[in-house]
Amino acid sequence: MYGLVNKAIQEMVCDHFGEDAWKAIRELSETKSENFISLESYPDDLTHRLVKSASQVLGISAAEIMEDFGKYWVKFTGQEGYGEMMDLAGDDLPEFLGNLDDLHSRLGVIFPKMQPPSFQCSDQEKQTLNLHYYSHRKGMAPMVSGLVEGLGERFDTAVEVTQVQDREQGADHDVFSVTYQP
Ligand code: HEM
Repeated sequence: MYGLVNKAIQEMVCDHFGEDAWKAIRELSETKSENFISLESYPDDLTHRLVKSASQVLGISAAEIMEDFGKYWVKFTGQEGYGEMMDLAGDDLPEFLGNLDDLHSRLGVIFPKMQPPSFQCSDQEKQTLNLHYYSHRKGMAPMVSGLVEGLGERFDTAVEVTQVQDREQGADHDVFSVTYQP
């Protein structure tokens, strides 16, 4: 994945747990780079090793780290200069969730080698919708829960996310039920 992702993991760990925790995670994961280059593509394995080592060093499950990371990502990308692109994706949570594929295809100009996820909304009612998540990668679903929670914060909307279909349990893709204040 692009270095921007690894950089965000590094910043999240340093912000929440301090530099020493990051140093221990970097060593345990045998990561050579001291800093990541946002626009350089790194092997997915490196990102997975960072999450696994963070889980061991911090004593938190990998799923929890991914969820926290999803939340952090919304703020982080806003601060890293992608706020305007997010502004273009919608004025409220359901509109934004419906435009996630457009957002990632616009980002494809900046990150040409990216393998973006794909999202679809269904069963939309006044306060709920189902969010379908399709990915080339495995094990990222907890990040999606955190991302939607982070977007709830961005739109100042109380939000609840429950995974209702799980690829790890044999489903062909992941589905999340999202409930929000209109
Ligand atoms: C402007 C803000 C955003 C930027 C700059 C951004 C950029 C990226 C980048 C660079 C990747 C790595 C893909 C790769 O290297 O192959 C990625 C992956 C991902 N993004 Fe975004 N993204 C943004 C917002 C969002 C939002 C709001 C969501 C909410 C659902 C989201 C969901 C994901 C997921 C789940 C992945 C993991 C990739 C996978 O499933 O295979 N992103 N994004």
